[in-house]
Amino acid sequence: MKTTTNHQPRGQHSIFNSSLFVESKKAFGWISAYGVGQHSAADFNPSSTATDLLTANAKYQMALGQIPDLWQVCFDLYSTFNNADAPFNALQFIPVLRKLNSISEAEMELFLRNPETNHILIHNELIKVVLIHWHPGKTSGIHGHPKGGCVFKVLYGSIEEMRYTSGPSPQLLSVSKCEKGAMGYIDDQMAYHAVGNPFETSAVSLHVYTPGPK
Ligand SMILES: [Fe+2]
Repeated sequence: MKTTTNHQPRGQHSIFNSSLFVESKKAFGWISAYGVGQHSAADFNPSSTATDLLTANAKYQMALGQIPDLWQVCFDLYSTFNNADAPFNALQFIPVLRKLNSISEAEMELFLRNPETNHILIHNELIKVVLIHWHPGKTSGIHGHPKGGCVFKVLYGSIEEMRYTSGPSPQLLSVSKCEKGAMGYIDDQMAYHAVGNPFETSAVSLHVYTPGPK
């Protein structure tokens, strides 16, 4: 078992698992039939199936082991929209992220050697999932997450999150160290933020966004 989630055994995680294809079609069929909350059915791309949920690059690099096998987590995150009560807010991803404990040492070792550091695992009209390797000293600019917000989870090492007042002249509100296993949620109603790694060793975090209701 390469990925330490609380889900099924590794053998059932495969993107090529036929039962998964069937389940995904059921899930996406539900969305197509009932619409997607405050979105319209037209917002859902019917071409999105289990086989093309991941970006081509993520699928390719996962197959080579250059990115940890997060297929099941990605599928579970996307499947949260298959719920009549889904708020179309990043908060709905928290139960899935909570089950993602950590990446195996072997997978992480390979990933840390990957020269690319920002990996878009999913990017469609409902959800964006990004896996980031934060080398020491790497930092993001101050930015916001309108509407649906963002949740993130630290999978390796520690990162630092700086929160700012939202608006045209952001003022620093807080600085927090987020250690392995920590999760956070933010949207523009709360604050803007910047994330970085001021520490001496690498860090890895998973970020999940949704554009929210239209
Ligand atoms: Fe962010």
